[in-house]
Amino acid sequence: MKKRKITKTKFKKEKINQGSRTEKYLLEQIIRVDHAGEYGATRIYDGQIAIFGKNSKIGQTIQQMADQEKLHIETFEKLIIQNRVRPTALLPIWNIAGYLLGASTALLGKKAAMACTVAVESVIGEHYNKQAKQLGTDQKKLIRTIKKFEKDELEHHDIGLEHDAENTFGYNFLTKIISVGCKTAIAISKKI
Ligand SMILES: [Fe+2]
Ligand SMILES: [Fe+2]
Repeated sequence: MKKRKITKTKFKKEKINQGSRTEKYLLEQIIRVDHAGEYGATRIYDGQIAIFGKNSKIGQTIQQMADQEKLHIETFEKLIIQNRVRPTALLPIWNIAGYLLGASTALLGKKAAMACTVAVESVIGEHYNKQAKQLGTDQKKLIRTIKKFEKDELEHHDIGLEHDAENTFGYNFLTKIISVGCKTAIAISKKI
């Protein structure tokens, strides 16, 4: 009888441990993927600003969004250290891919650059929205951060629309391709 009691307690403890391990795993995935995403966003805007120039009107608009992305990435850099999360191994890839995406859409013109912003920020906004719901009540601070960033990303999305993104040639095709690319990058960066 006594033996059975011990086994039960052990089982309960293991279950709790498993629960906290799952939570930790989820938290790590969230921080890793958001860090990767914000890094990619800064590189996209770097690529666009390199083409348009910092002093052009469109360059200044993009710079304002890029400044917010800088705050976002700095926040996740801190969270990576605080929570001892391994960053994605694919940062060098997102470095180049982000920059090329930004520069190539900017080369297609202002509207195409803004269409890129609409596509990216819509995926990221949705992604943050899902995450805020996934996190437990013990992560109130992170939920607040994610909700604030979601709001910023949706503002960037709206800036894109205000700048005539939808009138770029092949808007639906371009945004679909970018959106699929971003979702794939998100799925990979959670794990690797
Ligand atoms: Fe961001
Ligand atoms: Fe953004």
